[in-house]
Amino acid sequence: MGTPLLRVEDVGKNFGGLSALSNITFDIGDDEMVGLIGPNGAGKSTLIRIITSVLKPTYGTVKFKSRDITGLPISDIVNMGIASTAQIVKPFRRLPVISNAMVSCLCPRIRRTGDWVKSVELRARDALEFCGIADLALESASVLSHGDLKRLELARAIATEPELLLLDEPFGGLNQAETTLIAKSLRRLHKGGRFGRLHSEGPSMLIVEHKLADLMKIVDRVIVIDLGRIIAVGTPEEIVRNREVVKAYIGKEEGQLVS
Ligand SMILES: Nc1ncnc2c1ncn2[C@@H]1O[C@H](COP(=O)(O)OP(=O)(O)O)[C@@H](O)[C@H]1O
Ligand SMILES: [Mg+2]
Repeated sequence: MGTPLLRVEDVGKNFGGLSALSNITFDIGDDEMVGLIGPNGAGKSTLIRIITSVLKPTYGTVKFKSRDITGLPISDIVNMGIASTAQIVKPFRRLPVISNAMVSCLCPRIRRTGDWVKSVELRARDALEFCGIADLALESASVLSHGDLKRLELARAIATEPELLLLDEPFGGLNQAETTLIAKSLRRLHKGGRFGRLHSEGPSMLIVEHKLADLMKIVDRVIVIDLGRIIAVGTPEEIVRNREVVKAYIGKEEGQLVS
């Protein structure tokens, strides 16, 4: 691996007296799909929010293409090619679905490309189609089911044509059929499926997810955190056999690692 696309270097985050993350260091390569797992409260969402600059780390740096991006304004982060979806979806509920996706296309990253005014609606439509909700384009976002809102959240993120996509529980609250559909879309997107005009290759991804069986099928590598520290890194096969990982899960969630 040459220069990594993303480098998180010795990042820590304290909330008052609580240490939510300590000494987190890892890379994401140019063409990688990485899973981030760990029990509830492990610090996964906090880490995503630090990379996207929603939060500032207490210490440490985040580098994107070798550039220090720690604490930059979120708009700069998006313009550099990092997009994310949040665990809790926040659409513009009063706007039609298509407008929700069009708003993402208004970022300067997209405006830099040629005839952007003409292509905003097309681009937004492409994103909706990719996520399987093109037929809902003219509906108000307020009438969408939870599953469709999750898909809209993803459409809004990919409409910015990111090079790095950070997803916080993209399968949360979805049934198995919906989960399988989104999982397949993510893999297709990563492989440089039809979507996207700025980059011929699909984005690298960091995916936080509790549905481990579905996650393990699509990622190349998995990072495990517990109590704010990295406890294991490996391929999906290595991780499901890792005793420390299994212990962290069984101790706290009484579940099997991969159901
Ligand atoms: N804004 C905040 N203020 C105070 N504590 C927080 C805040 N956000 C997260 N935490 C705490 O940090 C820890 C990690 O939270 P989080 O990153 O949401 O975990 P995960 O996403 O892995 O479930 C938890 O103990 C949580 O209560
Ligand atoms: Mg979380």
